[in-house]
Amino acid sequence: MSAGVAERYEGSQSPLALLANRLELPPITSVKEEVVFDYFGLVENPFLDSAATFLAAHTDAPLQAASRTLTSFFATAHTDCVGNIGEKSACWLTIRLSQPHDAFSVPRWHQDGRMYPYDESRENVPRSKYGVTILGPPTLLFEYTSPENLIKEKEGLEKHFPRNGVSKTEEESDEAFDQLRSWLADQFRSEKLLQLGAGQIVRFTWGREDSPFHSEPDIVSDRVFMTVLFGSENEIRAMAEWRAAPFGEPTM
Ligand SMILES: [Fe+2]
Repeated sequence: MSAGVAERYEGSQSPLALLANRLELPPITSVKEEVVFDYFGLVENPFLDSAATFLAAHTDAPLQAASRTLTSFFATAHTDCVGNIGEKSACWLTIRLSQPHDAFSVPRWHQDGRMYPYDESRENVPRSKYGVTILGPPTLLFEYTSPENLIKEKEGLEKHFPRNGVSKTEEESDEAFDQLRSWLADQFRSEKLLQLGAGQIVRFTWGREDSPFHSEPDIVSDRVFMTVLFGSENEIRAMAEWRAAPFGEPTM
């Protein structure tokens, strides 16, 4: 990384931050259907209209209020994101609607890995995801991810996936992942978690050693959660390709 880039990003991309602006949330109480909205594409595309229509169609949020919240979330995150216009000209936005289920009654502690191949000379620039919960329980995030947490995770992996040369069947592997999840949940049960207020946007890095451990919350009530991340057009096109998703067209 060049000295210029290092200086430019110093201090502006901590692993975890709460943005100062709180979003005004739409009046919303329920999710009508479990469905996910995804958009990979350029930031100036009118995809936010589709996202608002999606939100109003599958929840009880009024269209105008949904649109205001989405626009404000997107603009706040885009402004906060480091990089020049080209370096953040594209995005991945996802809105996840859930109804109560018990898949996360045991937290699934993990760090987010690499989302896309980085443009040349920008490999060391911290990349972040922005998230906000519009309805229901907020995402669980460690306040601080320590080197000890990483050692614990490694210990858990070695314990549940021993390198003895015997490969597991798919079923055995699923079972080992479940056991690892429970083991980590137990090891991490007293970690301090970030307290998220209504409408607070959290920014957290991905693909880095100190990227925050996080998990979906226990989905005990209807939940609407959205995240966005930015990159250059090249980067987000590559991400869409990795995920076999279209570029420039929302999917739901
Ligand atoms: Fe994650």
